[in-house]
Amino acid sequence: MTLPPEAGASPPPSDPEGLEAQLRVFAAEIGGLYRAQKERAEQLESALGALKTAYRETIRSFAFVVEAKDAYTGQHLERCRAYGVALMEELGVADEHPDAEYGFLLHDAGKIGVPERILSKPGPLTAAEWRIMRTHPVIGCQMLENIPFMTTAAEIVRCHHEMFDGSGYPEHLRGEEIPLPARAFSIVDAFDAMTTDRPYRPAMPAERAAAELDRMAGSQFDPEVVAVFLPLIERLPSPSLG
Ligand SMILES: [Fe+2]
Repeated sequence: MTLPPEAGASPPPSDPEGLEAQLRVFAAEIGGLYRAQKERAEQLESALGALKTAYRETIRSFAFVVEAKDAYTGQHLERCRAYGVALMEELGVADEHPDAEYGFLLHDAGKIGVPERILSKPGPLTAAEWRIMRTHPVIGCQMLENIPFMTTAAEIVRCHHEMFDGSGYPEHLRGEEIPLPARAFSIVDAFDAMTTDRPYRPAMPAERAAAELDRMAGSQFDPEVVAVFLPLIERLPSPSLG
């Protein structure tokens, strides 16, 4: 049985010139479609770039609000972000964790849930006050864990006070139980804290801070990550603000 020609379909041209002309029309149409799609992809990429910038700036503003509530001053957060990203790149894992920088910026966001009188208490904290202070990694993680694409950031926030030998908090994780970005963060955080002036002591020179990190490798810090960080110190980027 012979099937009828498809409705609307034109019969193939019987002469080669006609076929060539039809192919030229198709080629022109495909070229036009390709250019339109390329233009659309470029527009989307540009919109995505603007959205990412807005996202990062919103998070940065929020992080600075938290920092203003804390006793830390200056550019601690921005330096932690810049040093942390540099260390992640040196470790070769930056692309796997594009949201790590948000975790570096927001590591202490949970302090928003700690009363001011404890955060800014001039003297040592009591045991009860320490218990409250030590809730900030979990509070911060809860703030982030349901936001899409913030899995690594939430892990960094939750684990930023864990120590390699299991003596940290909140979960006493040890070694590789602590996510790598959090192990990297604790090194840059400590390095920045040591090399910055504090009301109670002057900044330590970078060489002494490096020696201190080396001394604490294996106890507080992952020795393999310290070994990657130490040669990076002299190439650390300047923070982009201030
Ligand atoms: Fe903290």
